[in-house]
Amino acid sequence: MELAALVALTLLLGALIILVAVAVRKHKVETDIQEEQTTDRNVVKPPATKKPRPEKQRTRKDKAQHSFSHPLVASILKGHSGNITSIDFSSNGKYLASCADDRTVRIWSVKDFMDREHKCLRANVDLDHATLVSFSPDSRAFITWLSNGDTIRIFKMIKKEDGSFTFKAAPEDFPQKHKGAILNIGIAETGKFIMSASSDTSIHIWDLKGEILASINTNQITNSYAAISPCGRFVASCGFTPDVKVWEVCFGKSGEFREVTRAFDLKGHSAGVHSFAFSNNSHRMVSVSKDGTWKLWNTDVEYKKQQDPYLLRTVNCSSSEGSLVALSPDGRVCAISDGCDVTMFDTSTGQLEEELRGVHSGEITGLRFDINGRFLVCSGDKAVRVFHNAPGYRAAIKDMQEMLKKAQNEAMKQRLQQQIKDAQSALDTVLANPTD
Ligand SMILES: *[C@@H]1O[C@H](CO)[C@@H](O)[C@H](O)[C@H]1NC(C)=O
Ligand SMILES: *[C@@H]1O[C@H](CO)[C@@H](O)[C@H](O)[C@H]1NC(C)=O
Ligand SMILES: *[C@@H]1O[C@H](CO)[C@@H](O)[C@H](O)[C@H]1NC(C)=O
Repeated sequence: MELAALVALTLLLGALIILVAVAVRKHKVETDIQEEQTTDRNVVKPPATKKPRPEKQRTRKDKAQHSFSHPLVASILKGHSGNITSIDFSSNGKYLASCADDRTVRIWSVKDFMDREHKCLRANVDLDHATLVSFSPDSRAFITWLSNGDTIRIFKMIKKEDGSFTFKAAPEDFPQKHKGAILNIGIAETGKFIMSASSDTSIHIWDLKGEILASINTNQITNSYAAISPCGRFVASCGFTPDVKVWEVCFGKSGEFREVTRAFDLKGHSAGVHSFAFSNNSHRMVSVSKDGTWKLWNTDVEYKKQQDPYLLRTVNCSSSEGSLVALSPDGRVCAISDGCDVTMFDTSTGQLEEELRGVHSGEITGLRFDINGRFLVCSGDKAVRVFHNAPGYRAAIKDMQEMLKKAQNEAMKQRLQQQIKDAQSALDTVLANPTD
């Protein structure tokens, strides 16, 4: 019995020992495998380091950004880490706002466009990103369209004690009222209303607190663009139909909202209209159409006396879905985008002045002249490109030369000659100092 028990115990122990041995071995094997894997990882270094390399190249490429050079480039505003979807100048001319899908709105100083460094102030769009941005008339606030929130959020610029700015979002966003894709937003220069327009032909006119004052159905089947005029009186839209429709937003003497009335139409294109723009006093408009032309209009009319705007010029140009147009504040130059290209025309002759090809790596999302007509700015990837408005300088010089021919007295002649000299030397200076 004892022997049997001993054998059994021995067997048991033996089994245990074997088990333990196996376990240890197994563990050892596992350890070996792990080690092997570790060594493997080290050994297989080439593919392992190869993998991150394309990423590095990509970031480097991103940093270097889209390569584009042209003698009219004044500067490139870099800072956004996402694609810029909208830009706007403040009406005091001091700032340019840009928003991107990196959840920030950046405010750039126009004053240092010509400097090497471009500092900017950054407003964060919490839990969302802004797809459109528009300054308020006092240049101390801006409104944004929220991509996820599908509505308007107001930001106020607050000056801190040390003189720097900070940004504060209004406690509540506007209510969601649009169903279709949003095209544009704006605040009237009069400070009396806000506009939002959707491709589904609805335009809402809001008060500054987020109450709808009126809604417009443009009846243009689908809309491609809508905007408030710089004078703050009109709202206009264009799209599938071959016209631009313009409404007046009317207020009473004490500032109370009255109504939205049809003002006038721009009729003459033979196909849908991609986009339009106003000169700063709204006396001129320019439209660009699928029919392959842009048209300049005199809109300084008394529409209440049934006067229609009249067509001043039709010029061939290339354009496509998403084309934008900008008119310099003095109406002398228009710029048209087509994909990632921009062309600039003299509006008084219709002559093509500049062709800027491949300005951005993506389709152009914003195209504006600054309020003094010195610069044309453009967005379409992570950077804003700033161009000298050389065609504007040339057109102004040409106009002064015409005036000089007609000048009656010597004092007038001398003044014009001086102005021409100054404008010419300003143009020579900007062209002689290419940056970047
Ligand atoms: C503009 O384009 C039309 C149609 O392609 C053409 O018939 C016309 O000659 C062009 N005009 C100019 C000035 O190039
Ligand atoms: C429009 O721009 C012109 C030329 O830059 C300027 O002289 C004029 O004062 C501006 N008018 C308005 C209403 O801003
Ligand atoms: C940004 O724009 C570039 C160029 O158009 C495009 O390739 C890229 O996909 C865009 N990025 C995002 C996040 O939309």
